[in-house]
Amino acid sequence: MPRLSQWIIRAALIYLLTGITIGALLLAHKGVPFLPMLWAWLPAHIEFLLMGWILQLTLGVAFWILPRYWQQPRRPNERYAQIAFILLNLGIWLVVAGTTFRAGAWVLVAGRLAELGAVLFFAAHAWGRVVSREGA
Ligand code: HEM
Repeated sequence: MPRLSQWIIRAALIYLLTGITIGALLLAHKGVPFLPMLWAWLPAHIEFLLMGWILQLTLGVAFWILPRYWQQPRRPNERYAQIAFILLNLGIWLVVAGTTFRAGAWVLVAGRLAELGAVLFFAAHAWGRVVSREGA
């Protein structure tokens, strides 16, 4: 597995662990209320599991597994995938800052734009690798 996929998938696993921990605490609180301020972390729970786990895991595996035998270098525009990784994680934390830490609507918007940028950069990397068995 390429180094970049290792980083991306490990980051996704950390978000899975963190997101599920917040979810479990929220669920416990719903059963026996013990920490009302936990609800401020619901946006972080959703962000970590949807963007940090599901989307990021998908990008990590896609970078590893999309066809790569015809191209030299084997994964062209790797820089775009690296930028996507950085933008996605920057976006996740800006969204959490804008919601859970109430840093403001503009921080939330900046986070969403960074996440959109991550998807666009990854698409720019992957586009040329979406090829048939014959390489076209
Ligand atoms: C990939 C897995 C998961 C995703 C994508 C996810 C996503 C979400 C979303 C979108 C909501 C908001 C639902 C709404 O507002 O109606 C939510 C709420 C919640 N989630 Fe998760 N979740 C996941 C796993 C879990 C797990 C494993 C737990 C518990 C161990 C959990 C506990 C909760 C709780 C307690 C709420 C609040 C429900 C309420 O508003 O009363 N979630 N989750």
